[in-house]
Amino acid sequence: MDVLTTAILEAVRNQEQPTKTVLSSLLAIQDAMGYIPKQSMEVVASEVPDTTVNDVWSVASFYPNFKFEPRSECTVEICWGPTCHIAGAMGIFDEALNLLGLQSEGKTSDGSVELDFNTCLGACAQAPVISVNHHLIGRVTKNSLKDAIEKSN
Ligand code: FES
Repeated sequence: MDVLTTAILEAVRNQEQPTKTVLSSLLAIQDAMGYIPKQSMEVVASEVPDTTVNDVWSVASFYPNFKFEPRSECTVEICWGPTCHIAGAMGIFDEALNLLGLQSEGKTSDGSVELDFNTCLGACAQAPVISVNHHLIGRVTKNSLKDAIEKSN
């Protein structure tokens, strides 16, 4: 068994809850590795009873937050949920695209920063909200967005 497959298997088997589901296993893999390598589908299918590789792909492909390629060193999430939208998220969103030289979600040309949109980062009272390397920043402005990206990169 190769090193990557061993790491995936460990992530699945080391879950704390007694019942391991396809979803909990995929979350455990993404938490442990930052993304879900393609080999995960077979590992999860073999570890979760009565589950096929197709079952695992069905769950994995349903949730947009699952990533199937290694993440950039710096990840930036812009919330564009309803509360953040009302609080000016579109201006933050446009500024992030401008600062990173992107047309939409994805990685910068050098691969160092990855931008994602999120439908709610769970801190609506602090809208507009972004996350930089999983650190939430509320009441973000164009200036604080620029500072946060520069400091993290
Ligand atoms: S809508 Fe943006 S944090 Fe909830």
